Amino acid sequence: ATHHVAPDHRAEVLLRWGDAILPGAKGPFGSGPRDGADQARRFGTSCDFVAFMPLPLGSAASDHGLLCVNHEFASGHMMFPNYADRAAAWSGLTEAQARIEMEAVGHSVVEIRRDEGRWAPVADSRFNRRFTATTPMAITGPLAGHERLCTAADPTGRAVLGTFANCAGGVTPWGTVLTAEENIQGQFWGDQARLAELSPGELRNHASLGIGFSSGPGKPVPPRHPWARVDERFDITREPREPNRFGYIVEIDPYDPESRPKKRTALGRFKHEGACVHAVDGRPVVVYMGDDERFQCIYRFVSKGVYRAGDRAANMDLLETGDLFVARFEPDGTGRWLKLAFDGEWVTPDVTGFADETEVLIEPRFVAGLLGGTPMDRPEDIEIDPFTGRVYVALTGNDRRAATEADPANPRAANLWGHILEIVPPGEAGALDHWADLFLWELPLLAGDPAAASPMERGRYRGTPTPSGWFANPDNLAFDPAGRLWIGTDGMPDLATGPVHDGLWALDPSDPAGAPRHFFGCPRGAECTGPAFTPDGTTLFVSIQHPGEEDGTSHGAPSTRWPDFEPFVPPRASVMAITRKDGGPVGG
Ligand code: FEO
Ligand code: CA
Ligand code: CA
Ligand code: CA
Repeated sequence: ATHHVAPDHRAEVLLRWGDAILPGAKGPFGSGPRDGADQARRFGTSCDFVAFMPLPLGSAASDHGLLCVNHEFASGHMMFPNYADRAAAWSGLTEAQARIEMEAVGHSVVEIRRDEGRWAPVADSRFNRRFTATTPMAITGPLAGHERLCTAADPTGRAVLGTFANCAGGVTPWGTVLTAEENIQGQFWGDQARLAELSPGELRNHASLGIGFSSGPGKPVPPRHPWARVDERFDITREPREPNRFGYIVEIDPYDPESRPKKRTALGRFKHEGACVHAVDGRPVVVYMGDDERFQCIYRFVSKGVYRAGDRAANMDLLETGDLFVARFEPDGTGRWLKLAFDGEWVTPDVTGFADETEVLIEPRFVAGLLGGTPMDRPEDIEIDPFTGRVYVALTGNDRRAATEADPANPRAANLWGHILEIVPPGEAGALDHWADLFLWELPLLAGDPAAASPMERGRYRGTPTPSGWFANPDNLAFDPAGRLWIGTDGMPDLATGPVHDGLWALDPSDPAGAPRHFFGCPRGAECTGPAFTPDGTTLFVSIQHPGEEDGTSHGAPSTRWPDFEPFVPPRASVMAITRKDGGPVGG
């Protein structure tokens, strides 16, 4: 029921859900936070993306820094006693518990330090912060002040409360963190038929993201969080425009404790998985992004302004304006970035119903479909090989792809296992042209068991993985300083092939025989997220998301009580620090 790590390594819990990180938390964790104000002083739950930001700013320190961590969602039935399952928590959650959930999501910044080989958080550091579903943030970029982002509480359309559904993210070379708002439908409630009467212009928009429910046969499926019961902005029939203020990449400056997070609307609004930044001195900044849902697309942002290496002030608002593109993959191994803009042909005011072109950024999915962007098998994290410049995309799977919908970039029907896509911009290795609109692509890896009987289920790797060396459902990616690609998985326990768990695998993408190797196995019920390395590669931080949470489990009956293993203490999502016992590079 516990975690396991490769020989010669040590994996230690650094931060757990509920650990006090700000002054004023009410005593020890016990069996959970007391109320919303108490949770707001504590580390959040459902840890996902992790960034290690060295201290001081601009250094390559590997023993002192700011750990920046996403908290994707809150599972009420695992957090609070007396709910047998998710449905019971949905109908029973008290107002106080809903407020705890709202303070348990978002993002944390925690100062950490390594002394004599051991990492520890710095209590009451001036850098420590929580960003939750109620923290004031700024809406910036082309949609700031747009009518469709104005609400009763914020007629300016520029000031929003909170971030949530924070999945993966990215880091900029000017020392900010990008957190990606993904499954925002989990917070909103309301009948789409009623919305159609009140605000018909938002129906297509909200339905395309699964926001609200459609009345019809059977009961409406409740969203994950019943927050509309305590805050009516989460009811789309009361505040139809509130969802238009979520689904963005949010830029956070962890080095300035007074800074206000900025929602970067120029990067579009969808189920953002992450944001992979490429910056070269004197050139516009490129950001690669996935929209994680079945049959959604891969996007590229190119900034209007250019990156100035070493000039932080000049770079701080580079993500304010630029162009957004969607990827189209052709069967012959070529591909093209298609610009999301009125094109005079497919994308026009008549076809879209948009009064102005900035609305493309509210509904990029709709425009991507018109332009012919390729629907993918759930694009998750994206990373660039630091040596070759090739771009790797984790496609986690798509059980709904029919045989007639298979295409060369998504070749398997009912893809339960996922695959990895490689995008190769033109140019010399190490100096690839990420600004070009044409590229080549291939599939270096189809995940799954390489010994599976059915050809459609069989995994295909470079080299030959050992029996523990194959994986399924690639989700989070990271490169280490040596150029190895690390892959966290989400969904392995769903396979009917035996007692496999989600975990972490590593491979060398430049080695034609570079088979993946198993490195870390999660505790039961958990997914392995947010791998991040210190600059010297001697520490690997990983998040353990939703430990003990499986079908039929709850706060009182989890499948493991990791990491405390104390009676009555529920399992707690955590960030672990993994080091080599001899102090060398992790995985070395
Ligand atoms: Fe939150 Fe796409 O994983
Ligand atoms: Ca993810
Ligand atoms: Ca990543
Ligand atoms: Ca996932």
